[in-house]
Amino acid sequence: MASVTDKDMSTLRWIGEIPGKLNMIDQTQLPEEFVRIDCETPEDTWHAIKRLSVRGAPAIGVAAAYGLVLGIQHATELPREEFLRRLKETADYLAGSRPTAVNLFWALERMQRVASEHDTLSPVELTERLLAEARAIEQEDREMCAAMGEFGQTLLESGQGVLTHCNAGALATAGDGTALSVFYAAARAGKQISVYADETRPLLQGARLTSWELQNHGIDVTLICDSMAGWVMKEKRVQAVITGADRVAANGDSANKIGTYSVSHLAKAHGIPFYIVAPSSTFDFALATGEDIPIEQRDPAEISRGCGRQTAPDGIDIYNPAFDVTPAENITAIITEKGIISPVTSENIAAMLKAEA
Ligand code: MRU
Repeated sequence: MASVTDKDMSTLRWIGEIPGKLNMIDQTQLPEEFVRIDCETPEDTWHAIKRLSVRGAPAIGVAAAYGLVLGIQHATELPREEFLRRLKETADYLAGSRPTAVNLFWALERMQRVASEHDTLSPVELTERLLAEARAIEQEDREMCAAMGEFGQTLLESGQGVLTHCNAGALATAGDGTALSVFYAAARAGKQISVYADETRPLLQGARLTSWELQNHGIDVTLICDSMAGWVMKEKRVQAVITGADRVAANGDSANKIGTYSVSHLAKAHGIPFYIVAPSSTFDFALATGEDIPIEQRDPAEISRGCGRQTAPDGIDIYNPAFDVTPAENITAIITEKGIISPVTSENIAAMLKAEA
């Protein structure tokens, strides 16, 4: 199994200046092997996002911002109009990699806005300015993770068990994570928290990534199958659920990894608080409710051949939505970098975040 001793644990990082490259942990190989890969073109970045070498909403946003720089850094000799066309084409291309996490579109729109606000810069200067913007997106993500962790840990008491689903940790962000940053902050505050990690079928982000990440950070973690979540609640092993999100609508409906919806209902049935941890970059104020959040449909083979061997008969019909939407009414609070939103209503979300949007 991959050990982290002497390893560069940054989920992703830009190497060099202009020209440079995007280097990242290949999360498809964990926990068996710890491998870092380079992306030198937008195509490399698109495929890395699509196949989940880099995944998790905030990390996808950071990767896309750097992917945009990769698309223009060798195009600075082009006439200005052509250079700007290349910029737009690269952004549109990267936006097609995955549909649900809004951070991807948020980062690409922010990069393009900066480009249009600096229309007097030469292509060389603009490329440097956009690298600085991608670095700012990465740095701000790190700071948002730290703030969410501190706010979130105030909701937990030492001795509690907490269930999490998928991976919303350092591997999903540029910093300490969203949901998992709460566990790191709680540990720094001296609180003993026992984390229960759902394995998160079909791609096992909970088993492969969350349990690996928490184990490496010395956090007490117990892995369970997804189907055990209700029973650990019934047995009173967990007193809270904390997950991340991929897109939060204006009313608080929150898309996250498939299975989150079921967990939220289980938490409600057992009277357990259900918390979402999400930075402002994950909110989509263009969508009034979660009804219109696009849900990524993935390859059926993730279900029929997910564990490296055939696990379903040939020719079987398979439905494989990668995300579901938890209704705001099931969410006790949303923890953002600005503070804790509770109860989760459009008004409270707007009051906390809208001025920033
Ligand atoms: O398909 P993935 O692995 O990208 O899904 C990731 C999740 O659902 C995470 O919970 C979400 O992005 C929050 S990450 C901080």
